[in-house]
Amino acid sequence: MFTTELCDILKIEYPIILGGMVWIGKSELAAAVSEAGGLGLLAAGGMTLEEMSEEAEKVREITSKPFGVNVPLARPDAWDLIERAVKGGASVVATSAGSPKKLTGQIKDLGCTVMHVVPSVSFAEKCADAGVDIVIAEGIEAGGHDGFDEITTMALIPQVVDAVTVPVVAAGGIADGRGFVAALSLGAKGVQMGTRFVATHESAAHPRFKEAILKVGANGTTLTGRTTVGPTRGIKNRLTEMILDAERRGATQDEIFDLIGEGRSAIASIEGDIEEGSVYCGQIGGMIREIKSVKDVIDNVIREAEAVVRSLQRGISD
Ligand SMILES: Cc1cc2nc3c(=O)[nH]c(=O)nc-3n(C[C@H](O)[C@H](O)[C@H](O)COP(=O)(O)O)c2cc1C
Repeated sequence: MFTTELCDILKIEYPIILGGMVWIGKSELAAAVSEAGGLGLLAAGGMTLEEMSEEAEKVREITSKPFGVNVPLARPDAWDLIERAVKGGASVVATSAGSPKKLTGQIKDLGCTVMHVVPSVSFAEKCADAGVDIVIAEGIEAGGHDGFDEITTMALIPQVVDAVTVPVVAAGGIADGRGFVAALSLGAKGVQMGTRFVATHESAAHPRFKEAILKVGANGTTLTGRTTVGPTRGIKNRLTEMILDAERRGATQDEIFDLIGEGRSAIASIEGDIEEGSVYCGQIGGMIREIKSVKDVIDNVIREAEAVVRSLQRGISD
């Protein structure tokens, strides 16, 4: 029922993408998503070149299905990471945090599909001009780094769909079949999920990070970084309080950078310090109450989505 253009382009069964997630999107998670019929992305964010080669090799040991890599273009070695991933078998490259013009042509020359993550209509148009194959439009609900424009997924997707001719994938605030159907109704050809996949058995997140998502309420996340790196969504904790306090009193960018510091996300994701680290989590975290296997997550999304569509059809014909 849900085979879209995205499935044809990416050669996947279900139009569901694992969002790139620094420290967390490693081989076990990416391979599990691909094996379950979606598209798994290795997150290059925190990886060295050697790790990228190793992780790509491990994905290939687990699954023969297509997988990809997410590379933040802010990394000075972005191109080398891409080459390593592609050499290791990745067929899709999702770029983020930078201009889509930068590497799209070169990546396509490698024979890969290029996706780029955008937070606004104007960035989506830039992607289309740059020749990107698929635009991933991410609303302000999403966990991790969001856009300065602060547009919600609900408002962003139809406007991006109207603005570009390439397929659009919806990201931010989607974690079950209801959100999946809503995204398709808005014109998206598929979804990208992050937070839901953090709370899976296969994710590399520290157990305390996963537990924090199970406990977070609907209003349990906040945005920091508006005055520096851009809005970044994570669970409210001691660190977000300190950053918000500094931002409110007009601290300099250097002071705030000192607080955000290098590796704050690793402190939460790897070390499991959920008070002093950045616990990236989307607003939809408030709905996630169980750690599941990746296969269960994907199967549930599809089953639920089918039920939603059936119930809508019944409702309309009543
Ligand atoms: C823990 C975490 C880490 C993330 N790291 C990255 C990243 O390295 N690169 C990126 O493009 N997006 C990153 N994101 C965003 C996801 O790829 C995805 O687009 C987003 O989580 C979707 O919204 P959701 O959290 O509501 O599902 C991250 C999100 C989370 C929750």
